[in-house]
Amino acid sequence: MKVLITGSTGLLAKGFEETAPGPQEIVGVHLRSYQAQDSRARHRTLDVRDGAAVERLFSEERFDAVVHAAGIASVDQVEKHPEEGRRSNLGGTLNVARACREHGAYLVYVSTNAVFDGTRPPYAEDSPTSPLHHYGRIKLECEQAAAREAGPHAIVRPILMYGWNHSVNRPNPVTWIYEKLLHGDEVQLVDDVFENPLHNHQCGRALWRILERRPSGLFHLAGADRVSRWELGLKVAETFGLDAALLQRVDSSRFPGIAPRPKDTTFSTWRMQEELGVAPMTLAEGLGQMKAAMGIGV
Ligand SMILES: NC(=O)c1ccc[n+]([C@@H]2O[C@H](COP(=O)([O-])OP(=O)(O)OC[C@H]3O[C@@H](n4cnc5c(N)ncnc54)[C@H](OP(=O)(O)O)[C@@H]3O)[C@@H](O)[C@H]2O)c1
Repeated sequence: MKVLITGSTGLLAKGFEETAPGPQEIVGVHLRSYQAQDSRARHRTLDVRDGAAVERLFSEERFDAVVHAAGIASVDQVEKHPEEGRRSNLGGTLNVARACREHGAYLVYVSTNAVFDGTRPPYAEDSPTSPLHHYGRIKLECEQAAAREAGPHAIVRPILMYGWNHSVNRPNPVTWIYEKLLHGDEVQLVDDVFENPLHNHQCGRALWRILERRPSGLFHLAGADRVSRWELGLKVAETFGLDAALLQRVDSSRFPGIAPRPKDTTFSTWRMQEELGVAPMTLAEGLGQMKAAMGIGV
């Protein structure tokens, strides 16, 4: 199988590449011109907003399947620059979905838990959507565009993801908290926003299972434990032997300047478990795996 993954320097793509089950050929595309280290993919640069460039890539290389994860994934960046967020996320999705249909590739579109308002957890795949901010609304439009424009496809909604990211890319809550505590900095963490966080390797395994089975429809991808960011911080400190006294427990009213976050988007993982056969990882397992990957051991 030859697979294209867009957004190949992101956290999701790193988990996807690191869990590849065998000798699949992986081509990765990303925007900026730098080389991702330790990658198992053959990387190229491509701007998914550029429809002609996307079409050229699909004419040069034949892909059996495509995972489309590229775009602006920062909620606050999209909130500040919604038109930029729309061009990147919706424009890119239209270009990739159309190319998949034209060239006969199966598409997995990567959406988000931010399509929910967080008032009625746990969220199943058929729960009504109601995004609170620009990013959530644009990603919902992307889901609809992917479903309309692509041929055979599935849509996944990962929840808050963690794992070791490429150093050139943005940190995630776990690596951010880890770095802060390591350097002895105080960290304010909210105790009123909840998710069941997803390790990027578990996400990768679910994506590979989807590529093997080629189902259609929606899949929620999440871990086993529902935690607030504050509780997540405590687990990070405990796992890596860092000073939990540096963690300050606050609520969301402390951050009036950022986009409103849904309070509790905890996912039901029933479909992921039953139809993909992927077990949700506990936080202890996921953080333990990160620690082991540092050579410290669990
Ligand atoms: N991280 C999470 O917690 C989370 C949760 C739910 C859903 N998701 C979804 O999962 C997907 C991947 O997220 P992530 O956290 O892995 O992303 P990320 O770490 O922020 O990386 C974004 C990736 O997209 C690439 N990119 C951005 N604009 C592009 C463009 N115009 N053309 C081509 N590539 C472009 C970036 O390339 P450069 O490095 O070259 O700039 C990078 O490879 C996103 O669709 C996001 O909405 C993520």
